[in-house]
Amino acid sequence: MPIMKAPISLLAVTSAILGGSNGKSLRSSSPASYGTIGRSDYILQTGYVVGNGKVGAIPFGPPGADKINLNVDSLWSGGPFEVANYTGGNPSSPRYDALPEIRDRIFQNGTGGIAPLLGNGNYYGSNRVLGNLTVMFGGVESYTEYQRTLDLSDGVHRTKFSIGNNSTELEASVFCSYPDQVCVYHLGSDEQLPTITVNIENLLVEQSLLESSCERGILRHSGITQTGPPQGMKYAAVARVDPESVVTTCSREGSLQITTRKKELTIVVSAETNYDQKAGNEESGWSFKGEDPASIVDMTSSAAISKGYTRLLEHHINDYKNLTGDFSLQLPDTSSSKHKETAELIQNYTYDGPGNPFLENLLFDYARHLLISSSRENSLPANLQGRWTELLNPSWGADYHANINIQMNYWLADQTGLAETQHALWNYMEDTWVPRGTETAQLLYNASGWVTHNEMNIFGFTAMKDVAGWANYPAAAAWMMQHVWDNFEYTQDVTWLEKQGYPLIKGVAEFWVSSLQEDKFFNDGSLVVNPCNSPETGPTTFGCAHYQQLIHQLFNSVLAAQKFLSKPDTKFVDAITSSLNQLDTGLHFASWGGLKEWKLPEAYGYDNKSTHRHLSHLNGWYPGYSISSFANGYTNTTIQNAVKETLISRGMGNAEDANAGWAKVWRAACWARLNDTQRAYSELRYAIDENFVGNGLSMYWGSQPPFQIDANFGFAGAVLSMLVVDMPLAYGSEAKNRTVVLGPAIPAEWGNGKVMGLRLRGGGIVDFSWDGKGVVNKVKILSRGKERRKVHLVNMEGDHLADI
Ligand SMILES: *[C@@H]1O[C@H](CO)[C@@H](O)[C@H](O)[C@H]1NC(C)=O
Ligand SMILES: *[C@@H]1O[C@H](CO)[C@@H](O)[C@H](O)[C@H]1NC(C)=O
Ligand SMILES: *[C@@H]1O[C@H](CO)[C@@H](O)[C@H](O)[C@H]1NC(C)=O
Ligand SMILES: *[C@@H]1O[C@H](CO)[C@@H](O)[C@H](O)[C@H]1NC(C)=O
Ligand SMILES: *[C@@H]1O[C@H](CO)[C@@H](O)[C@H](O)[C@H]1NC(C)=O
Ligand SMILES: *[C@@H]1O[C@H](CO)[C@@H](O)[C@H](O)[C@H]1NC(C)=O
Ligand SMILES: *[C@@H]1O[C@H](CO)[C@@H](O)[C@H](O)[C@H]1NC(C)=O
Ligand SMILES: *[C@@H]1O[C@H](CO)[C@@H](O)[C@H](O)[C@H]1NC(C)=O
Ligand SMILES: *[C@@H]1O[C@H](CO)[C@@H](O)[C@H](O)[C@H]1NC(C)=O
Ligand SMILES: *[C@@H]1O[C@H](CO)[C@@H](O)[C@H](O)[C@H]1NC(C)=O
Ligand SMILES: *[C@@H]1O[C@H](CO)[C@@H](O)[C@H](O)[C@H]1NC(C)=O
Ligand SMILES: *[C@@H]1O[C@H](CO)[C@@H](O)[C@H](O)[C@H]1NC(C)=O
Repeated sequence: MPIMKAPISLLAVTSAILGGSNGKSLRSSSPASYGTIGRSDYILQTGYVVGNGKVGAIPFGPPGADKINLNVDSLWSGGPFEVANYTGGNPSSPRYDALPEIRDRIFQNGTGGIAPLLGNGNYYGSNRVLGNLTVMFGGVESYTEYQRTLDLSDGVHRTKFSIGNNSTELEASVFCSYPDQVCVYHLGSDEQLPTITVNIENLLVEQSLLESSCERGILRHSGITQTGPPQGMKYAAVARVDPESVVTTCSREGSLQITTRKKELTIVVSAETNYDQKAGNEESGWSFKGEDPASIVDMTSSAAISKGYTRLLEHHINDYKNLTGDFSLQLPDTSSSKHKETAELIQNYTYDGPGNPFLENLLFDYARHLLISSSRENSLPANLQGRWTELLNPSWGADYHANINIQMNYWLADQTGLAETQHALWNYMEDTWVPRGTETAQLLYNASGWVTHNEMNIFGFTAMKDVAGWANYPAAAAWMMQHVWDNFEYTQDVTWLEKQGYPLIKGVAEFWVSSLQEDKFFNDGSLVVNPCNSPETGPTTFGCAHYQQLIHQLFNSVLAAQKFLSKPDTKFVDAITSSLNQLDTGLHFASWGGLKEWKLPEAYGYDNKSTHRHLSHLNGWYPGYSISSFANGYTNTTIQNAVKETLISRGMGNAEDANAGWAKVWRAACWARLNDTQRAYSELRYAIDENFVGNGLSMYWGSQPPFQIDANFGFAGAVLSMLVVDMPLAYGSEAKNRTVVLGPAIPAEWGNGKVMGLRLRGGGIVDFSWDGKGVVNKVKILSRGKERRKVHLVNMEGDHLADI
């Protein structure tokens, strides 16, 4: 590192060394601001977000009054920190005695209810905000040349401005570092810095539950979610100032006042709670309680500040580039948008206009940034809001909904080289779902293995909540197992499969193998689920298409996994094989041409056309593959037509039940699998137009809050679905070659673009590019992977491009 004099040039030099900012950035010429929900200046509609998985940060506020909204993954109300005998919703005694009657009724009458199995969400809790880091300084009565950017090539948020009419320039940089486990605020100027006052505040909680202290260069802030008993969750944050040539004093109110002769200042913030995901089991008394966070944040922040800004930045950028660097999507910037305001690009974007490939590419890259920032090996997985909330009670508790939402959060991970972000997901399931879910399987279903339902907190809530249409969803874990199996397919990590992946899959398969029932409605000898429903719609019945398709995939993955295990699981394989042979695979056709969502005869009136937001019975088409691959649907015109009719009937994903972004991007991905470029691209454009707001985040009710992150991630998943069709073959087809279609639905608007570093099942990695019409014409194979059979790469014109 050369020795630098002025911090501004230091930044320039550092970014030149590290590769700098040739990537895309979100940019704005006005500060992000805070307001009341529903107002246009809500920070989650204007702020750009950063994070290191565990800690999330949203910088906002005008120059001189910087604030950074801070989140830490495990800061939740509820659970055993709120009530001593918390059971994750499990009842104190078995409920399965009610099951035979529930099942009989359904088999006799077609539909029924599950009231005796319902529970409640008492003490379920909510993810909540930690507070604001505030950095105030005077002398900024006015400012010019304001610019705020989030650079997606290095994950650094920067604001630059000049004070008043003077040419004094300031630049504030904010990033959250995974390697150093802190968020970093750095202020640099070409003049001596003004006096700066730093604090950590939480204006939303009762102040008696907070403690803060200030000493030379260190600010400590801690709190507890309730005084108890039981004692609430403890959380702590520490801010430290780089002690070099600064004088700090503590004000009477406890804030840190900094005067410096230097032209730059660095503050690091570390945050943690006393939640311990590993302590959510019987041996730990289901306590989820870990170490007091105060000493952890003290040590982490102290280690970080001693490294100095340049090294902190370098560690962060290395880590960020290491994760993002070997994949890229390059769509043409046909409207010269690169240097334009992001909010304006989004504002001007219309569904029926020409699209804007630059913006679409930017939102794709932003999705990858969001995943890296909200899901890392030592964090909880990305929740409904990723890692970002400014509230104590965000919508749905910013929890984990698993009937599409958490799944969609990870749609982009495997193919874009972000498998590493999924450790958070595997560990979360293993540590919090399996222990309580094993009890739930026994208490509600008298079944082995484990089960969970639709809504999950971080305290092992695996039982049913109270509204049947949402709660009656034992298929959540079966769906998650697609992610587990896919992760293995893409990474080929046999050690991981043996240790973590297969045990997860097996536990869920055990549940289903012991729960499936012989169909006594049709008496067709098939095995079906009873009771079931389709997520958030329709009756409680049997043989719901969605479940049958998921179980089809699950059992397939059990069988496919065997050859990679050190000891084949022979007895279990026999049970699975026999169930699979008898399984109804959830593919039935409606008289009006669509797919049936329920096995129940149409005369019952449930399988009518519907514009419902979910596409649950298309799960086997996309994101799953029980219909598209195992039933050869991708190449079978009968199935293609039925999928098409279903998609047409479901509409654009804007029905009165929800005008949500996730409903649109799911539709886009399904259309892409029909090679319907025009409809896939329209849905994608429609999602941007309706649901994406100025800071690139997606809102739930059209463009109205709450922010819900799934559509941001699902957007990238839908783009990937337009770029490639890469599905596994059914177990038993090992002798066949596999075909991967490159560019099934690339619009001409993306003409002459390319993708680099795309992962394929089996461990292959390819770059490819396409012509002006979107037809793939060049492929470069970077890795052949480990797949034993041949993979034929073809394009949409049927041209054989390569074998790997
Ligand atoms: C937990 O204790 C409360 C009383 O404090 C009681 O009402 C509740 O039923 C108990 N819950 C369980 C699951 O035992
Ligand atoms: C079936 O439905 C009929 C009419 O709704 C009802 O009278 C009957 O009790 C039901 N049978 C069972 C077993 O629930
Ligand atoms: C401009 O600079 C002078 C001298 O440094 C200072 O006194 C004055 O407050 C500055 N004005 C503004 C608007 O920043
Ligand atoms: C900046 O300069 C303009 C004209 O030179 C003047 O009108 C304005 O009041 C000045 N603003 C400040 C904050 O000094
Ligand atoms: C953060 O600052 C904003 C704006 O001043 C304020 O409205 C909000 O309540 C603060 N958040 C917390 C958690 O204190
Ligand atoms: C990049 O990531 C790999 C594993 O994902 C790791 O082994 C390597 O050390 C990382 N390199 C840097 C520079 O962080
Ligand atoms: C948005 O549209 C307006 C009005 O047509 C135009 O003036 C402006 O330049 C556009 N902005 C961007 C960033 O394209
Ligand atoms: C519960 O499961 C066990 C083992 O499969 C079985 O023997 C028992 O009959 C079941 N009990 C009920 C009430 O279904
Ligand atoms: C389904 O359509 C039939 C006519 O085709 C109608 O009688 C029935 O009420 C509809 N059912 C529902 C649940 O909308
Ligand atoms: C999509 O393209 C693939 C590969 O060319 C083809 O097998 C399939 O039938 C096509 N699907 C439709 C709906 O045309
Ligand atoms: C297409 O799928 C349907 C439904 O599974 C099946 O009946 C038909 O035989 C298939 N067609 C071909 C050509 O395989
Ligand atoms: C698989 O592909 C290879 C090479 O293209 C070809 O020789 C072989 O016949 C194919 N096998 C099958 C079963 O299609």
